[in-house]
Amino acid sequence: MGTAQGIGIFDSGIGGLSIAAAIRQALPAERLLYFGDNAHVPYGERTAAEILEFSTAITEALLAKGCRSIVIACNTASSAALGPLRAKFPHVPFVGMEPAVKPAVEHTRTGVVGVLATRATVESKAMADVVERFAHGVEVIQQPCTGLAQRIDAGQFDGPELEALLRGWIEPMLARNIDALVLGCTHYPLVRPLIERIAGPGVRVIEPSMAIARRLAQQLEQHGIAAPADAKGSLECWTSGEPAGFTPVLEKLGLHADSICKGRWLSNGDLALG
Ligand code: DGL
Repeated sequence: MGTAQGIGIFDSGIGGLSIAAAIRQALPAERLLYFGDNAHVPYGERTAAEILEFSTAITEALLAKGCRSIVIACNTASSAALGPLRAKFPHVPFVGMEPAVKPAVEHTRTGVVGVLATRATVESKAMADVVERFAHGVEVIQQPCTGLAQRIDAGQFDGPELEALLRGWIEPMLARNIDALVLGCTHYPLVRPLIERIAGPGVRVIEPSMAIARRLAQQLEQHGIAAPADAKGSLECWTSGEPAGFTPVLEKLGLHADSICKGRWLSNGDLALG
């Protein structure tokens, strides 16, 4: 049996586990190393420079653990850091997130689609680029959801308070006749049932986790670093927050973690994954 090389996956918190779940399903032989920066969530309210600093240190720590490729399982960190990280680590294959505007535009019949994302993503150049590349005359309503990722990260997946918050953002988009709604933050699939209930049957809710898993599979093949088919895949998790916070999310996603350990930010800005 061969030894699986590691794939590093990171997010500001638990959201990227929705991507890890898709990767686990599509690539069960791979060894996955996940880091959630729960101590710094939400990234969506931080500056691009801060997000880049964290993302660089996380990438270095995951590479030091033996990872051969990195998935930035966070739209906010991808918008702020994907380009600079590719430039800094040219030998490392990166997969990043971008809001799934393309499939939404392909789906729409009304000509109006919505995107829910963090403030930093909505304001990013990456978001503007995606709209420019794929909108083709379709109206793309972008809604920053301040506070949503933070609530989900704290384990709030449903309830009247969360529903009221989401209704405040989604109902005005329904009034403008959207028929596709993009989840532009990896935390949001964790509240997908609530979003679907509010959006109703006439709106397709779109998130790209399986597309990301497929893109990763292609990259691993291209670079010749896919795990042998008979390798025993695994999922090792680290968090800068409380490891216990991962348990309900892993359960919700039907994911088994082989370990959940504490990662520590050091005073020099480095990240230690013990
Ligand atoms: N999960 C993240 C994203 O995809 C970030 C949420 C946050 O930390 O604000 O954008």
